Amino acid sequence: MVREFLWWRDGVIYQIYPRSFNDSTGDGIGDLNGITEKIGYLAELGVNAIWLSPINPSPDVDFGYDVADYRAIDPKFGSMADFDRLRKTAADAGIALVMDLVLNHTSDQHPWFLSACKSRDDPYRNYYIWRDPAPDGGPPNNWQAVFGGPGWEWDEKTSQYYYHMFYQQQPDVNWRNPRVRQEMLDVFRFWLDKGVKGFRLDVFNVYFKDAHLRDNPFALRGIRPFDRQIHQYDFDRPELTGVLRDIRRVLDSYDAAYAIGETFMSTPEKAAGYTGDDLLHACFNFKVTESRYDSCMLMRRIVEWERALGPDRWPNYAFNNHDTKRSATRFTHGENDDRLKVMAALLLSLRGTPFLYYGEEIGMRDIKVLRKDILDPIGKRYWPIFVGRDGCRAPMQWDGSPQAGFTSGDPWLPVHPNHIRRNVAQQEQDTDSLLHFYQRMLALRRAQPALIRGEFTPLDAGARAVMAYARKLGDETVCVLLNFSRRPHTVTLPPGKRYTSLLSSDSRPDGSALSGTFTIKGNEALITYEE
Ligand code: NOJ
Repeated sequence: MVREFLWWRDGVIYQIYPRSFNDSTGDGIGDLNGITEKIGYLAELGVNAIWLSPINPSPDVDFGYDVADYRAIDPKFGSMADFDRLRKTAADAGIALVMDLVLNHTSDQHPWFLSACKSRDDPYRNYYIWRDPAPDGGPPNNWQAVFGGPGWEWDEKTSQYYYHMFYQQQPDVNWRNPRVRQEMLDVFRFWLDKGVKGFRLDVFNVYFKDAHLRDNPFALRGIRPFDRQIHQYDFDRPELTGVLRDIRRVLDSYDAAYAIGETFMSTPEKAAGYTGDDLLHACFNFKVTESRYDSCMLMRRIVEWERALGPDRWPNYAFNNHDTKRSATRFTHGENDDRLKVMAALLLSLRGTPFLYYGEEIGMRDIKVLRKDILDPIGKRYWPIFVGRDGCRAPMQWDGSPQAGFTSGDPWLPVHPNHIRRNVAQQEQDTDSLLHFYQRMLALRRAQPALIRGEFTPLDAGARAVMAYARKLGDETVCVLLNFSRRPHTVTLPPGKRYTSLLSSDSRPDGSALSGTFTIKGNEALITYEE
């Protein structure tokens, strides 16, 4: 039995991109009061926490990921009182709040940076990474920015370069400076004192850069100059471990506080290496997120992740986020949701914390954005090789009204034209909908402790396209069968036992008895109980 429910381990976390969830003011941008209005919806869905993409004041060069004040709320999202109300309403509904902390860089409008730019001996100068030019007058080394161009920007006034891994408006802070470290740890305390339970740490594994700023070796791959380097000196530096320990000590001084790191350009081993009792509670492994809709590839990557973590560290899974094409766009053609039910059953029956991204539960597809309308600066720069991330950030589709019930004004990004048929109101009416399927899966997960804490064991059901695994806790075993192909397959469950269906994405009735060998329908997700 699961004795004690620990929200971040046993629960389900729902990511909200606040600009796009629900607009209560009619200015076309989602806000905190809009989210508060929808807490009832989230509670009914059955999630246990919400992760808010950044809500701090930001000039929005990178839509919130360029922070100008770590301790305030951007007025476009509301006030601190709105934040407190959201936190309390969520807590009353059993939903914890996870903040996105962007601590690798600030906005160039952050008071620290504005001050640092005043002179070379400004007290905030050493909050950032400044260097003299190389002997030829160029940047100090060969590091590149992720979003294009060199990683160094020349500051005319003080005649030095500063380093930025992302846009030039996102200067990297100097984590080697003890004052910066202290400031950042205080940011954690500030939000924990306000009742926040957890944090998602943006690109934490690049907090430290090589102390000698050595050139990265060249790599023969990729299109962007950034990809044509091995990131030996600007990523994953050993000094990081000490800071992760400091962060963990702060978290451990609060009740059940949690941090999950965005392991930038991760491998399972790297992500696992930053996870542990005195490190972060969890790290994202994007290899699973980026998998194709393919039972073998997914199973290989899940097993690899389980192995990298071992029995003592807790996995997590996400198939969507604000940087990636939605799984509905990647895995489906047209409006059919059968494959999405298979993915939902997978996400919610694996061993590990599931992360949902707003709108995933109704199968939102990416919007198409014309070149002239692209807002995401990477899309502007790299079009047509990369069209940017606007597609997966479109307004939530609440109903079939002209702006999908998201806003009474002009939405900051267009709503998907399919919102007329694909929306929450419509799917609430249809018991066969994807939304109902998510609700049923979430309810089943709560009712079956084996689905939460059970051991994970891959099974061979006899068909390559059918992923099969058992989740076992004490005497209870749940077997999961997911048919990734359109065709039906004959499958076999471990012999000598009797099985009952707990839930199927097809018309198979719950509670029906299954013989050891039977047919699973095309794209059917089937959860069974071993009697
Ligand atoms: C990762 C975030 O997920 C992404 O949206 C952002 O652009 C970069 N970090 C820079 O903060």
